[in-house]
Amino acid sequence: MLSARTDIGTLSLSDVGRVVELYGWVNTRRAHADVIFVDLRDRSGLVQVVFDPEDEEVYAEAVRIRPEFVLAVRGLVRRRPEGTENPGKLLGDLEVVARQVTVLNAAQTPPFMIRDQLEVDESLRLKYRYLDLRRPEMQRIFQIRHQVMQKVRRFLDEAGFLEIETPFLTNSTPEGARDYLVPSRVNPGAFYALPQSPQLFKQLLMVAGMEKYFQITRCFRDEDLRADRQPEFTQIDLEMSFVEIDDVLILMERLIREVFLEFAGKDMPVPFQRMSYREAMNRFGSDRPDLRFGMELVDVGYVVRDTNFQAFAQVVMSGGRAMGLRVPGGASLPRREIDKLTEFVGLFGAKGLAYITLCEGELKSPILKFFAEEEMAALLRVMGAQDGDILFFVAGPEEVVWNSLGNLRLELGRRFELIDRDMMSCLWITDFPLLEYDDKEKRYVAIHHPFTAPRAEDAGKLTEAPLEVRALAYDLVVNGTELGGGSIRIHEREVQEKVFALLGIDEEQAAEKFGFLLDAFSYGTPPHGGIAFGLDRLMMILTERDNIRDVIAFPKTQSATCLMTKAPAPVVPLQLRELHIKVDV
Ligand code: AMO
Ligand code: AMP
Repeated sequence: MLSARTDIGTLSLSDVGRVVELYGWVNTRRAHADVIFVDLRDRSGLVQVVFDPEDEEVYAEAVRIRPEFVLAVRGLVRRRPEGTENPGKLLGDLEVVARQVTVLNAAQTPPFMIRDQLEVDESLRLKYRYLDLRRPEMQRIFQIRHQVMQKVRRFLDEAGFLEIETPFLTNSTPEGARDYLVPSRVNPGAFYALPQSPQLFKQLLMVAGMEKYFQITRCFRDEDLRADRQPEFTQIDLEMSFVEIDDVLILMERLIREVFLEFAGKDMPVPFQRMSYREAMNRFGSDRPDLRFGMELVDVGYVVRDTNFQAFAQVVMSGGRAMGLRVPGGASLPRREIDKLTEFVGLFGAKGLAYITLCEGELKSPILKFFAEEEMAALLRVMGAQDGDILFFVAGPEEVVWNSLGNLRLELGRRFELIDRDMMSCLWITDFPLLEYDDKEKRYVAIHHPFTAPRAEDAGKLTEAPLEVRALAYDLVVNGTELGGGSIRIHEREVQEKVFALLGIDEEQAAEKFGFLLDAFSYGTPPHGGIAFGLDRLMMILTERDNIRDVIAFPKTQSATCLMTKAPAPVVPLQLRELHIKVDV
């Protein structure tokens, strides 16, 4: 019987008069004047099946049908009687008159309706994820996800890449998060770490002469979760030998452009815009700027420097920055909202949030008294102030000013609905610093990862001025989300050793942790570079979802649990004993 199956979505008016076999789930069941109507759903579509009381045998079976029963139906395709068409719907002009029906499986009443526009708690959806995934919008997401993966495979295959798998049971591959550890039973006291990315293996594949590698693979990071972060997520990961930055970026622009054109109907002109890290921070206060709206930061350091506003002047004189943000129409913000925004920027380290409102020619501001008339005029001029505006200012260390105003810009952009949702903003951020200084740990840390190459012209500064060294690194930023990141790698043993030393990894540790990589670099390593995209984040943008869980079949909650399987869970004492583990909670 199954071999004669017709997919519901393939039915059309040309099938009228044919007898077909359909298999699927009962979406809804209604009865009108004894006639039973069932909307039968399979992965491909939905069609109305009619059970007429005159066909007694079939009708008797139909009476017990409830939503989500699994049915096999044989029936005659016919045009819907005039006046009963449902033109808005797919297959709205067709129905199938049942001649035979088999209940393949009954179903309990599901905990929520299988339909889009669902208003139930997400935890219920996650507990019954297999039901949630039956909903048409979820089915669509996973069809697109599948197609995107096939597209990426085809594209990279045609470009000469080899798909090669790398281990999950491995040692730490640092990307800045904590590791998920797996105890080894046969090696007491030793642990594997699940990979945060295939970084080291893909570089070793370049040493191995594979030249072009890719993998669509799971990565594991034990980090604090956010709307666009999961503890396990999928990367489109690749690496190429004998390339420079342009080779990687140009190929990737083609790939990303084709994906967006095919799956979102959006054409993103190539080449994508490129912006240096410093420019992004100075203009937008973020290394993943959302360019779908303006409202850029303005440097006011040289205006406030010589004024009596000590809070600002002193900061600037001692090497800090003072910057402002002009919010058109913001003069209407009530005082308590300004207080809330002051608290908001406080989260990013700002010591305060100075402001000036311009309302019908009148200035209001707690800092007015510190400025001479011409100083205030200069400040307004630099800010491009207009009536109805509110101007915000923060002074402090550069990072604090960037972070607080960058986040304030995003918050206000959302609040005042300045973001043009039809626009795509797509750009490369380049020229990142190689290192930053971690005040807590009192040492340098890599901004990307320790294997990123410094720019050749900066390499000389590695010893005297490490913070000024720029990296051959790049991030792809789409609509304010970091979609991917990569770099040209260090391929010389001496340079790698130098960078390890800067990062506070001494020779012994380097040999212990990364000896295999350093050794490999002694055996003829080609210059190489690559990138990894977050497939889940790509899917979020393509399907316009705000939550990464919607594009992952079986995602985890904010606290890294699975509500369906209840993972993670305690294990029996025997298992722990075998693993040589004592739990101490
Ligand atoms: P990076 O750490 O930037 O680079 O990761 C690459 C991309 O992976 C996605 N991503 C995540 N997605 C969901 N949940 C997470 N927790 C998560 N973390 C990262 C992001 C990010 O841009 N080995 C390097 C790449 C390289 O240098 O080639 C790496 O992993 O979209
Ligand atoms: P004060 O003179 O400290 O009362 O500050 C006057 C105004 O400037 C208040 O609105 C403070 O919130 C603001 N302010 C003080 N220091 C800073 C700073 N570093 N950055 C931004 N605003 C500040």
